[in-house]
Amino acid sequence: MAAPIIEFAGISKRYGGVRALRDVSFAVERGEVHALVGENGSGKSTLIRICGGVFPPDEGTLRFDGRPVSFATPLQARAAGISIVHQEIPVCPDLTAAQNVFLGRALPRRGPWVDWRELNRQAEALFARLGVDLRPTAFAGDLSVAQRQTVAIAHALSEDAKLLILDEPTSALNRQEAERLFEIVQGLKAHGVTIVYVSHRLDEVFGVADRISALRDGRYVGTVPRAEATPAAVVKMMVGRDVALLFPKSAPAAAVGETLLSVRGFSAPGRFADVSFDLRRGETLGLVGLQGSGTSEVLRALAGLPPHPTGEIRLAGEPIRPASAAAAIAHQIAYVPADRQGEGLFAPMSVRENATLLLLRKLATALGWVPTRALDEIVRGMVGRFQIRAPSAAAPVSSLSGGNQQKVVIARSLSTEPLVILLDDPTRGIDVGAKAEVHAILGKLTEQGCGVLLVSSELPEALAMSDRLLAMVGGRVVAELPGGADEETVMGLVTAAGAAA
Ligand SMILES: Nc1ncnc2c1ncn2[C@@H]1O[C@H](COP(=O)(O)OP(=O)(O)OP(=O)(O)O)[C@@H](O)[C@H]1O
Ligand SMILES: [Mg+2]
Repeated sequence: MAAPIIEFAGISKRYGGVRALRDVSFAVERGEVHALVGENGSGKSTLIRICGGVFPPDEGTLRFDGRPVSFATPLQARAAGISIVHQEIPVCPDLTAAQNVFLGRALPRRGPWVDWRELNRQAEALFARLGVDLRPTAFAGDLSVAQRQTVAIAHALSEDAKLLILDEPTSALNRQEAERLFEIVQGLKAHGVTIVYVSHRLDEVFGVADRISALRDGRYVGTVPRAEATPAAVVKMMVGRDVALLFPKSAPAAAVGETLLSVRGFSAPGRFADVSFDLRRGETLGLVGLQGSGTSEVLRALAGLPPHPTGEIRLAGEPIRPASAAAAIAHQIAYVPADRQGEGLFAPMSVRENATLLLLRKLATALGWVPTRALDEIVRGMVGRFQIRAPSAAAPVSSLSGGNQQKVVIARSLSTEPLVILLDDPTRGIDVGAKAEVHAILGKLTEQGCGVLLVSSELPEALAMSDRLLAMVGGRVVAELPGGADEETVMGLVTAAGAAA
């Protein structure tokens, strides 16, 4: 048998006092799609960073293509044939989408000059292959999280890789967009490329993987062939116990009350147009649509962020016009942004500072001093409620795993006793256990009379959590559906109508 394409032998890695990986040994066979699963903070991204030459392991060896390797830089790993889509989406905001795709690679040339037209053409072809309508000349800084993720994937695909590693590549993509990626993954596999795939979405893992390996607390648990595994068994490998996989809420809210938020003729040129709806107390209203359909933009606008739209917003009957994030919060509107890295967190600041940011004014004494002890009390509550895994309240939030950073943003947004809760893909990147926890917390908040406006890239989640759904295409609401609607109907509405429009 040919040597494995990559082999981990006794890999350990610490970050200061945190043991992220402990004696991890397993192999990825040539030509397979190998899924890597594990709870938030279990060490998946750390293992991938070692493969990618971001840093070396403290102990153990990495063998690639039959030989022991130690990559000193990401460029060396890439030169050896390892291409990675990292979990945190690194795009240069001041470069265009196409320039980001070709970053660090040979540019198409015409004589001594870069052939920009050819570069844009090639990038456009890659986006088309990924099934997204993305302008190659758009500045990356203006793109949504989902669009930036597409650019990162295109960047990785455009290389002659022997091993392609995808760390939660579809976390911001919806089902249809993800399926396009899987077709491409299967195509690459057919050409002999090996793929390592990290995801918290078990349906995807079971859809694409030949074999599945799990990490728990930085330790390797085991590898199972997909054909012999069940989702429940894989979750048990990850968590170490049985976990309910279903969404807790599947029936419409029993006690939907009076209108809480009323939106009329909401328009922002180029983003969305003439959006009108009512959100009632106790209700969860889902906004569904593909990339660029305007769902996220509607939430942003209600959260007081630019561009400020025209139209009317009434909160409990009173007209309001939130012109800033602070104004929206003062109106008891909470917002969980999709871009938690960019808009949600201040990386160098501590978990404590990030988590309690919105409470400082309320907690401050007359002298403007906030007792650390009170803050730590609150952080402890959040950590327990959302199962946030952090070494301490004083640790920089950037030292948390991707999923745990997400939980900090959600906990902070919900800390302000909101009436209206705007959620943009709240459970993206969060492991199964914590996801169920977030759903349960939302269930409690709606029982207490909050109204929830939910955008989710995971359609099953939107369908299970919402009492009603609005389908959006090209910035307009095209249909309203009951919460029990089936996936095919909704997909049909957001895609076919899109083609017609
Ligand atoms: N830069 C860092 N400094 C300190 N600790 C870190 C750093 N990056 C990660 N860690 C810690 O290492 C552990 C493993 O993190 P890692 O990012 O590998 O997890 P993960 O499995 O990718 O999780 P997720 O599913 O949330 O992305 C976590 O406990 C995390 O807090
Ligand atoms: Mg990770």
